[in-house]
Amino acid sequence: MLKKPNKSSDLNLMDKIVSLAKRRGYIFPDSEIYGGLANSWDFGPLGVELKNNIKRVWWESMVYHREDIVGLDSTILMNPKVWIASGHASGFSDPLIECKNCHTRFRADYLKEGKYGEVIMKDGYPHCPLCGGELTEERKFNLMFKTFFGPVEDESNIIYLRPETAQGIFINFKQVLASSRLKLPFGIAQIGKSFRNEITPGNFIFRLREFEQMELEYFVKPKEDEKWYKYWLKERFDWYLSLGLKKENLRIRQHLKNELAHYAKACSDIEFKFPFSGQDGFDELEGIANRTDYDLKNHMNYSGRDLTYFDEETGKSYIPYVIEPSAGVERTVLAVLINGYEEEKDEEGETRVILKIHPRLAPIKAAILPLVKNKKDLVLKAQEIFKTLHSRTHYFIDYDETGSIGRRYRRQDEIGTPFCLTIDFQTLEDDTLTVRERDNMKQERIKVSEIESYLKDKLI
Ligand code: GAP
Repeated sequence: MLKKPNKSSDLNLMDKIVSLAKRRGYIFPDSEIYGGLANSWDFGPLGVELKNNIKRVWWESMVYHREDIVGLDSTILMNPKVWIASGHASGFSDPLIECKNCHTRFRADYLKEGKYGEVIMKDGYPHCPLCGGELTEERKFNLMFKTFFGPVEDESNIIYLRPETAQGIFINFKQVLASSRLKLPFGIAQIGKSFRNEITPGNFIFRLREFEQMELEYFVKPKEDEKWYKYWLKERFDWYLSLGLKKENLRIRQHLKNELAHYAKACSDIEFKFPFSGQDGFDELEGIANRTDYDLKNHMNYSGRDLTYFDEETGKSYIPYVIEPSAGVERTVLAVLINGYEEEKDEEGETRVILKIHPRLAPIKAAILPLVKNKKDLVLKAQEIFKTLHSRTHYFIDYDETGSIGRRYRRQDEIGTPFCLTIDFQTLEDDTLTVRERDNMKQERIKVSEIESYLKDKLI
């Protein structure tokens, strides 16, 4: 009998996840052969699958399963006027204090809270907690990355890497409307890279300088904004539940007025219980904001173009309001890994590590395992089944014949493969195989000819 899962202590858990992620090919330190690049991570063979599955499932739920939302893929580099109109050129900043000696920049609020260590007091003035140097006054530091557009590196060619994908949607609003038959309420969805020169990146892949967002801008009639805001909050919360995130690991937190971004009338975060989260134990996974008509109105003013919507019912034109669910891909990856990590002890006291990832998200859907490798006809049969399945399916199937069957099961458990398909001597006689389920190790025999439909049902 297996004992109840034993959740490791929280701090330990992050170390275990980072180590598993590296060892098994989920997430690697970036630029590792050159000593790394701070807080940058690459997604390995399994990580890219998990990431792609998350993005695909999001896209399916937003675009394919609905009639009111279409997709978009806009550029990362946009006309710099976009950021003036959106308010990011002036408003997207953190208050910082810099050390005049070592030039470290500190977030003013964190510095005051002592998060960088104790501030040294000299002659009644605070000095750098790292080197004791003199500190500057508080200054705003814009979080947008800058580069030059074209060969000439002068002021007029400065351009920004987008800090959110949302603006690409707003500036295409009229073109999408003109090329489709959409009527309010309707949405435009986009997945893509965003960049922020964060002052305090860290906690593995939680806060990065280069990350991916999955954003929806949902345009509604001005008086219907509150109704749709509530609707999307529930819809998005349920999405995480449907992917197996445990209810006790999730919560909704409404922003206080003083926390709201410069464009928002209201905002709530869907939060996840990350092991490193501070006192109240949760941190942001996704934000759902009521951006009102702020963005379209500003783009209309700055561009001089008409960005209103013509309402055929009333015969009037107006600027729609916008509800925006905005999720982070890497944060979802991290939440899925933390949510799924479990350790169990078997009767022999051996630890079984399991990543309980929803089958739709699991990088490898099934592993084909010949029971032993020194029986040629068994191996040939397993390889034949693998090849057939491989050529007919559109997901990642693994084949493994190395080591004992017990060890191979453990390996698949640890990387989150929901199904192991074992080919044994009976397979040669009656064309059946054993399906072993990752989470409860239950085994059942099915016909080889039924594998595809069996998996199809389980992967929905
Ligand atoms: N367009 C709205 C917007 O960008 P946000 O709350 O700043 O809102 C939305 O970001 C989501 O993007 C966050 O909930 C988070 O999942 C992800 N995100 C934001 N900054 C991030 C960072 N530095 N690293 C990783 N993910 C980040």
